[in-house]
Amino acid sequence: MLRFDYKNADISIVGQEHGLDVEYEFSSYKTKIAEIITDLNKRKDKPGQWLQWMNLGYSEETVWYVKEYASMVRNRFDNILVLGIGGSALGGLAVTEALLKPYWNFLTPEQRDNFPRIFFLDNIDPDSINGLLDILNLKKTLVNVITKSGSTAETMSQFMIVKSRLEKELGEDEYRKNVVATTDRQTGVLRQIAEQEGYKTFVVPDDVGGRFSVFSAVGLLPFALVGIDIDEITNGIKDMDLALKNTDIKENIAAQNALIQYLMDTKKGKDLSVMMPYSSRLRYVSDWYVQLWAESLGKDTDKQGNHIHVGPTPIRALGATDQHSQVQLYNEGPNNKIINFIRVDEFDTNLEIPRIFEYTGIGYLGGKTVNDLINAEADSTRVALADYARPTVTISLPKVDGYHVGQLLYMLEVQTAIAGELYNINTFDQPGVEQAKNYTYALMGRAGYEDSARVLQAKMAAV
Ligand code: PA5
Repeated sequence: MLRFDYKNADISIVGQEHGLDVEYEFSSYKTKIAEIITDLNKRKDKPGQWLQWMNLGYSEETVWYVKEYASMVRNRFDNILVLGIGGSALGGLAVTEALLKPYWNFLTPEQRDNFPRIFFLDNIDPDSINGLLDILNLKKTLVNVITKSGSTAETMSQFMIVKSRLEKELGEDEYRKNVVATTDRQTGVLRQIAEQEGYKTFVVPDDVGGRFSVFSAVGLLPFALVGIDIDEITNGIKDMDLALKNTDIKENIAAQNALIQYLMDTKKGKDLSVMMPYSSRLRYVSDWYVQLWAESLGKDTDKQGNHIHVGPTPIRALGATDQHSQVQLYNEGPNNKIINFIRVDEFDTNLEIPRIFEYTGIGYLGGKTVNDLINAEADSTRVALADYARPTVTISLPKVDGYHVGQLLYMLEVQTAIAGELYNINTFDQPGVEQAKNYTYALMGRAGYEDSARVLQAKMAAV
């Protein structure tokens, strides 16, 4: 199982001003946390609560359909092209980067066991879209277009471009075999298009928001298509879910970190929360976490409708790289952050540094491993931060594999849901994102958005 270590957030290490009396806080919040956990588990099956993501690890039907489709198209495609943005892309990126062999797309088909390469288009930079489409053989590319709403401008404009090119290359009928759509069961434009055109489809389940959808078909389908063992992932989620059903905060690591992050923000002025894995394979877990934490917790109103403007700002960092970029600021700049380290016990490779130089400055490295070095750097950065009275917590993964990555992401989802309850906000809406989406629709001339367009033009003229 994953381990969680909070001692460097405690007053005994970082002092009274910047630390928490963690054991005292755990006792003070014992009842509140138990109520939150009980309530989340009670509400999770009820429609309209947006908690269906808590059931995704048990969705045997989805796993079955995903595997069946993946085996049907096995050996037919050289590339998977995922079109999506935000919650429809970040989980896929995080897990494929973590679980596929490094530099997957550069490996030969044999090195990939004949599974396809995978590309995510999660932005609308014209140069990068065009550049990618120019290098992909579209005849040998399966396009997985993912959008829950079915009308997100970025994703659907990409899809329109890709569909036209596919049709040109494969013909009006044949091209359909190269498209699989993941979208809402019933509503949305993509659902309509898929039915009209006869695409294979998968469902983003009801009551699962984009940023909590990684373990639905949104993530599982791309994972299975590139040969990732999705049973291993769901086993990790199920075991973690069982552990996180424990209502005793002393036994529940998601509740512990939710409370620590919440109190650091609200009591100790640490309104920046850094996610810093010491593993390149986990680098996009930070991007995924940043969206999860920011969109879920950054809110205007509380549940009673009072304007409270809360939410810690998440920051992505990568160890050891960012030791040479951000850590100077973390050590000596404003003491307004809590840093979440992720540490890996055992890497797949044991990489020895050859004894080839005897120079005093570097000779000591010879005969050691890079594995020792990266973890020594994680430990020494944590200790240095403590010297400067900077609080940190550490999540340790025994290995970067499907079981533990499933556990990690699920733990962070539960942690987010618990933190949302502590802030007393709606964790699962995103009115701030919708506002910008509406303005984009207005600017681009979408029917029904004429009033917004007028408001927007007046505002733009005024500045
Ligand atoms: O978490 C969310 O809800 C958002 O980030 C969405 O995932 C993102 O806006 C994309 O939406 P959709 O899947 O509807 O295209």
